[in-house]
Amino acid sequence: MKVAVMGYGTVGSGVVEVIDTHSDIIKKRTGGDSLEVAHILDLRDFPGDSHEALFTKDFNDILNDEEVKVVAETMGGVEPAFTFTSKLLAAGKSVVTSNKELVAQKGLELLELAEENGVNYLFEASVGGGIPIIRPMSQCLAANNIEGVAGILNGTTNFILTKMIEDDMDFSDALKLAQDNGYAEKDPTADIEGFDACRKVCILASLAFGKHVYPNQVATEGITNITLEDVSYIHSMNGVIKLLGQIKYISDDKIAAFVSPAVVWHGSQLASVNDVFNAILVRGDAVGDVCFYGPGAGKLPTASAVVADMVDAAKHVERKKIFGWGAGSEDYVVDYKSEIEMPFYVRAKAQESKIKGTFTAIRFLNRIGQPSDEVAFITDKMTENKLMQKLEGIDVINVIKVTNY
Ligand code: HSE
Repeated sequence: MKVAVMGYGTVGSGVVEVIDTHSDIIKKRTGGDSLEVAHILDLRDFPGDSHEALFTKDFNDILNDEEVKVVAETMGGVEPAFTFTSKLLAAGKSVVTSNKELVAQKGLELLELAEENGVNYLFEASVGGGIPIIRPMSQCLAANNIEGVAGILNGTTNFILTKMIEDDMDFSDALKLAQDNGYAEKDPTADIEGFDACRKVCILASLAFGKHVYPNQVATEGITNITLEDVSYIHSMNGVIKLLGQIKYISDDKIAAFVSPAVVWHGSQLASVNDVFNAILVRGDAVGDVCFYGPGAGKLPTASAVVADMVDAAKHVERKKIFGWGAGSEDYVVDYKSEIEMPFYVRAKAQESKIKGTFTAIRFLNRIGQPSDEVAFITDKMTENKLMQKLEGIDVINVIKVTNY
């Protein structure tokens, strides 16, 4: 079967490489058809690339090739990926993607368009890189009411935090290393400010509860305020700091969803997820906690998921897979700061006596080199709004959520 690839960056070139190197196994998995890359769309030139004859700068070469039934979109960004994907689906071609920004922003429209045209829009690679999570959540866990999801969803920030925690490496050196390894987004702001994890939270929340969640509904905080001092205090109590996406079911009409650094205690399945690895912990009412773990970014792991979707789309070229979600609403995602109670880590310029007078149940933390006028402590459970009220008048240096996953 003829296929095409749009975007020949880290993931797209990985897709072509996996198709080239795994042709035998792909043929077995599709039931006899091989995937033959007929076009590669990219505005850049790749002189000397062994696929030089397949490159085009004109999207219409793919759209108008009637033999192309499945297209991998690995361009990233909303436009022109949205326009191209819409036209392909409308033309009766299935599209698979690793583009989490597009699925988070426009997934509902694209899934509806695929439905109308009897084709598939698949996005296994959009969350967790190579980790199977979209199908397990939508199919294998279908019998459960999902109570919540917590995930380490961004490989770059997990890599940076791991280097800070284990090697005392500074933030910028660790980021540079992640970029050199091909983990980071083109603009790494999306990684370190949590936007990439936010998009993945949107996709997981939409899938888990059947209503589209948009990025502007998910409160998002990145890792740029995390210091080696915070790492050290939390380490003294057997915890680590992770960038977590958290989703909680409240009622059929309300969920909470947010991205932030979070303290994870040792003993949690998420605590030992290091480097570029991602993990997604899903809490179901029948199954309990299940955790999906694996490489969350990188060329071949992500390509592995994209090509698996291409195989699936090729197998189901005459059949629509039932997959997706419906419309959400503006007030569907609540303000977690007033609704969700949890403990917090607080670091402040203050004396212990002042803190003891303000909070009832607290645990103080220590670190080597702790200044005499600095305290760090874990509060009992409360909403973030309540915490902020209590902290009024205290010279706060940092506040980090503590997760119960
Ligand atoms: N920049 C992303 C990450 C790539 O680091 O996880 C995979 O989505």
